[in-house]
Amino acid sequence: MTFPIVRHRRLRQTAAIRSLVRETVLTVDDLIQPIFVTYGTGVKNEITSMPGIYNLSLDMLEAEVKEIVDLGIKAVLLFGIPETKDSVGSSAFAEDGIVQEATRRIKAMYPDLLVVADTCLCEFTDHGHCGMVHTFERDGHIHGEVLNDESLELLVKTAVSQAKAGADIIAPSNMMDGFVQAIRAGLDEAGFQNVPIMSYSVKYSSAFYGPFRDAADSAPQFGDRKAYQMDSANVREALREAETDVLEGADMLMVKPALAYMDVIRIIKDQFDLPLVAYNVSGEYSMVKAAAMQGWIDEKAIVMEMLTGMKRAGADIIITYFSKDVARWLKESK
Ligand code: PBG
Repeated sequence: MTFPIVRHRRLRQTAAIRSLVRETVLTVDDLIQPIFVTYGTGVKNEITSMPGIYNLSLDMLEAEVKEIVDLGIKAVLLFGIPETKDSVGSSAFAEDGIVQEATRRIKAMYPDLLVVADTCLCEFTDHGHCGMVHTFERDGHIHGEVLNDESLELLVKTAVSQAKAGADIIAPSNMMDGFVQAIRAGLDEAGFQNVPIMSYSVKYSSAFYGPFRDAADSAPQFGDRKAYQMDSANVREALREAETDVLEGADMLMVKPALAYMDVIRIIKDQFDLPLVAYNVSGEYSMVKAAAMQGWIDEKAIVMEMLTGMKRAGADIIITYFSKDVARWLKESK
């Protein structure tokens, strides 16, 4: 008898045979590119902690969106930085709000590009929380409680105004209880029965959102988000969150962040049959960029390995700030 009996390397000998037996393939159809829109004119400010990602004013959107469409990317996720913030985030649901205006412009230029609207209040509130806050003083400190049911009303208004502006998909990221049910009912009532909800079902309270909060100027002014976003130590709780969203009518589920939560992506994929989104968040982007800029890692290889890993873990769709880069690399390799 010869040794070894089993030779795994037979199927690894050449690029051709490796591609023949490859189990997971990342394609441009899987990707969603986030965009940050801001007020003013002629603004194209690179976000310091996110090299290659910009705050763009409405007049600067066209070039960016054209590049995205030309690369074959099918969807963008919009975040807005408004000129004025207040305690209830009024500009989140204003008819002429920044996200609503951006949506109208993009849909007018590129009707086939899917516009996904992030539905949250934290970019629009002066306190930086994702809902309406009740503040009170105790022991000489300001405390705040994010009010669940009162916030839902504002979030429904936000989602409906986004749909009215032409958003193709509503993506609520606020983590209030009952948000999918409330937004579904609100959309239906306003005649948007066919607008799907991509729910940020499993959203952890995470330090990986740091660079995003610089970009969107949305860091909470007091406290943190631990009373509404999930504890990173929990996975059974993720099942409860996802189950609730399914019952409430979500069309897609999401796990966020991605890299430190691959086990969560896998278990949600195994337990539920809705399309699953993984959000490769800002901090995950910044870490790769920083190391790449030092010349310490091979950026392209690292990014492809990370995103392929997310797909292998079970993601059907990936929201990533690397979408344009990946689309370009995939094109080049053809
Ligand atoms: C809004 C929202 C956040 C992100 C997406 N939607 C910020 C937060 O919850 O603090 C983070 C995205 C990222 O880090 O890339 N609630």
